Amino acid sequence: MEKFKVAVIGCGSIAQKRHLPEYQANPHVEIAAVCDVVESRAEEMAKKYGAKAFTDYGEVVKLDEVDAVSVCLPNYLHAPVTIESLNAGKHVLCEKPMAVSTEEAEAMNRAAALSQKTLMIAHNQRFVSSHQKAKEILERGDLGKIYTFRTTFGHGGPENWSIDGENSWFFDKEKAFVGAMGDLGVHKADLIRYLLGEVTEVGAFVQTSAKDQTEVDDNAVCILKMESGLVGTLTASWSYVGGSDNSTVIYGEKGIMQLENDPDYSLQVHYKNGESVHHRLDKIQTNEEGGQTTTHVINHFIESLQNRCAPLITGEEGMKSLKVILAALEANETKQIQRISSLEKV
Ligand SMILES: NC(=O)c1ccc[n+]([C@@H]2O[C@H](COP(=O)([O-])OP(=O)(O)OC[C@H]3O[C@@H](n4cnc5c(N)ncnc54)[C@H](O)[C@@H]3O)[C@@H](O)[C@H]2O)c1
Repeated sequence: MEKFKVAVIGCGSIAQKRHLPEYQANPHVEIAAVCDVVESRAEEMAKKYGAKAFTDYGEVVKLDEVDAVSVCLPNYLHAPVTIESLNAGKHVLCEKPMAVSTEEAEAMNRAAALSQKTLMIAHNQRFVSSHQKAKEILERGDLGKIYTFRTTFGHGGPENWSIDGENSWFFDKEKAFVGAMGDLGVHKADLIRYLLGEVTEVGAFVQTSAKDQTEVDDNAVCILKMESGLVGTLTASWSYVGGSDNSTVIYGEKGIMQLENDPDYSLQVHYKNGESVHHRLDKIQTNEEGGQTTTHVINHFIESLQNRCAPLITGEEGMKSLKVILAALEANETKQIQRISSLEKV
């Protein structure tokens, strides 16, 4: 059986909770190397997964035996580490947001094209059961014409998630570049594009309202206009204390579809004629205890390598979702609606 030798760069929360256990569970993978600037973290994961430990990612991307790399690093390192890995002939699974600028994302896509290696961005929302089912329902036209939507992702903040807690890079503008919009908003930008098509215009208020320790945004309210002409809202926040909200509601001609809005029924459709359909599906991943269900991201990445076909979320797709949040930041700065393609004023 063909086995892919994988290196995981960055041994923080996303690596420990999702990438490493999901690679280990995949029979087609051997975890060859792990890397973290904090040596004890790399050593601990190396011991747990039978891999070699490194503190310098530059050494890891040069390892002959490594076929593929997971980039589980702070946002400002996504582009340089991905590009170095692709140039060294490795396939890359990079965490979201793909990069901190369109120029970086374009450079990553150029490196993937030149090296002819796979670049996938870890937008796991597309693999959530309720979201997959919603896509099926929308494609069948069960809701008729779609009029509007609202989608939100919020929780109490990354201090409850990042391995470095209150001292996390998530709060450091130089390393994160963007706050709740990069952490959570980009997930919903990707989801709404997946379900309803491309975003063409963005208006937004993006502020820091709940966290005194940071200059990055922790609360954003955006209005999106889609290629089809419909408008809806996207909100992202680190100010939803006491729980999380990961819900999406789509309002159509024939009814309303609610996703991840009910703890038992992750997809509900309430039709205009009075009928309701409730689907009990696999749970979405949350930061809470027991919330680490399989993301399907790792298995999809490995399948795309086995089948030598493009993954669902290529670098091009990651860049389109990134552009939505960059447009929101720009709209907030300039107080002008932004067009996505060129980030021009409307
Ligand atoms: N897909 C998702 O749902 C999801 C969820 C959470 C985080 N993420 C993304 O994953 C990435 C990592 O986030 P996290 O939550 O694991 O953060 P984290 O703070 O828990 O871990 C980051 C790790 O990177 C290490 N690191 C920093 N600089 C390094 C370097 N130069 N070389 C090697 N290691 C280095 C740190 O020591 C730390 O262990 C971020 O881009 C984040 O947006 C994605």
